Amino acid sequence: MALPRQPKILLAAVGLVCIIGLFTFRLHSRDAFFATRPGYLSPNRIPTLSQKTGQLDPEAHKLPSADSFRAHFNALTRVKNITVAEAKAGCHWPQDEDVNFQFSADAEWVVTDRPDDEINSRRKAWQEYIQGKMIPWEKVKDKFEGRGVVILAGNRDTAMHLKVVLRRLTMLRSKIPMEIHYWGDEMNKATREDLASLYQPTSFNDLSQPHNIIQVKKDGPFINFQLKTAALINSKFAEPLLLDSDNVPVLDPATLYDSHVYQEYGTVFWPDIARSWPQNPAWAITNTPCRMDEYEQESGQLMVGKQRYWYHLQLAAWLNNEEGKYYNEFLLGDKDMFRFAWHALKTSYGRPKKWLTSVGVLNDDYYCGHSFAQYHPDDGRVAFLHGGLAKSTALEVMRWNKEEKGGYFRHYKRAPTDEDPAQIVHVGIKFDGATYKPNHTEDFKVAMCTDMRDLEVGNLDDILPGWEKEYEELGGYWMLEQETTAKQTLARNN
Ligand SMILES: *[C@@H]1O[C@H](CO)[C@@H](O)[C@H](O)[C@H]1NC(C)=O
Ligand SMILES: *[C@@H]1O[C@H](CO)[C@@H](O)[C@H](O)[C@H]1NC(C)=O
Repeated sequence: MALPRQPKILLAAVGLVCIIGLFTFRLHSRDAFFATRPGYLSPNRIPTLSQKTGQLDPEAHKLPSADSFRAHFNALTRVKNITVAEAKAGCHWPQDEDVNFQFSADAEWVVTDRPDDEINSRRKAWQEYIQGKMIPWEKVKDKFEGRGVVILAGNRDTAMHLKVVLRRLTMLRSKIPMEIHYWGDEMNKATREDLASLYQPTSFNDLSQPHNIIQVKKDGPFINFQLKTAALINSKFAEPLLLDSDNVPVLDPATLYDSHVYQEYGTVFWPDIARSWPQNPAWAITNTPCRMDEYEQESGQLMVGKQRYWYHLQLAAWLNNEEGKYYNEFLLGDKDMFRFAWHALKTSYGRPKKWLTSVGVLNDDYYCGHSFAQYHPDDGRVAFLHGGLAKSTALEVMRWNKEEKGGYFRHYKRAPTDEDPAQIVHVGIKFDGATYKPNHTEDFKVAMCTDMRDLEVGNLDDILPGWEKEYEELGGYWMLEQETTAKQTLARNN
């Protein structure tokens, strides 16, 4: 049947409008994805991808490059949005189960769920960020090369911790390059030379300088979490391994890149000791139902390939920096921004087969855990010893352990279920109850400890033979040596 003349023209006009519309829409979304930033030109070559279909890729972690995530990212806005109530339903521990949650049960957002309109607007914000405001991989890919360790160092104490790490790498005969990030005057030339003399190749990057890809501000003299994501992004390495300065590698970090986990996922995120509350707004904001088989992330060490995850890292940095005031209320600084960025972008991350082991001392039947042993991604070899709480220990307690009890690294507690993250281990943070001096009083609290209740204490030599001695040889007890020197100086001057 022939159409009358008028509607034919109308149809043609509608068709033309549609084609123009589609064309401009595509142009628009393409430009938005590769938003131009000051100092960044549009890329020469736009990757051709199946953005028409725009399906979520359940195996997104196997995508070969940052730009191959485009269709996947476009599909994220079509994912069903979940409410806080729906996110909470993912975790259903019994009411009386003693789960070790990060943040107290009295926190306002733990007591009262955040309203869904707040969740919606925060979700909208990160979705707009990934659609339109990220730095294209094309613009930066030539800036990165190779593998290496990235450490953020600042004040005097972190430089002292860092020396232990550098001596350890030398002892391991590691060849992995080291890049130390600092902020402006915080590290002077003499300190840099001193550090570089301990290990080679070592290079430095000043995060306060304009050459950095992302610029961050530092506020106050204390821990600046935003500097960690910045160090990772601004690092010259294509495959950085981020390490805290008080985290001593037990194995040569270079060998971790060969692990099956890293090879498959292009990331390794190590677990922390606590879990996230089901009502943590980050679950709903990232459209991720709460997970019972997941610990928080312990970002004292992490590995990530930028070639695949350049956009993921930018989202983590954005959550940490631009939105940090909001998120820091329920995510501790940088540590969980990575995990939730990966959740938001519906991408699995690599995690080690084993959960952490607590390392510490047993005195008077009282176990005090002060460090975490973190494992090789594939097996049961300890890869790192992270001194978390050791920093806060009173020096006399450390000295008493070392000089009178045979060491500060003597015992450990490991869950027999440490390969199943869904198993609950009863964990607590407490004060050391051991009598370290004859005149010890209950009120004089001298060390914060982690404990894993109900678990047997083991001898550290069974999993890390000779560590106490090695740690001493590495100069790990520098704080005790400093104290001794200070006392001698004082005595001489009197
Ligand atoms: C989910 O929410 C975001 C922002 O809150 C919105 O842009 C998106 O269209 C929503 N998706 C669906 C499928 O409703
Ligand atoms: C313990 O006793 C010693 C000497 O008897 C004293 O110098 C020290 O201050 C006392 N410490 C505490 C915590 O009371």
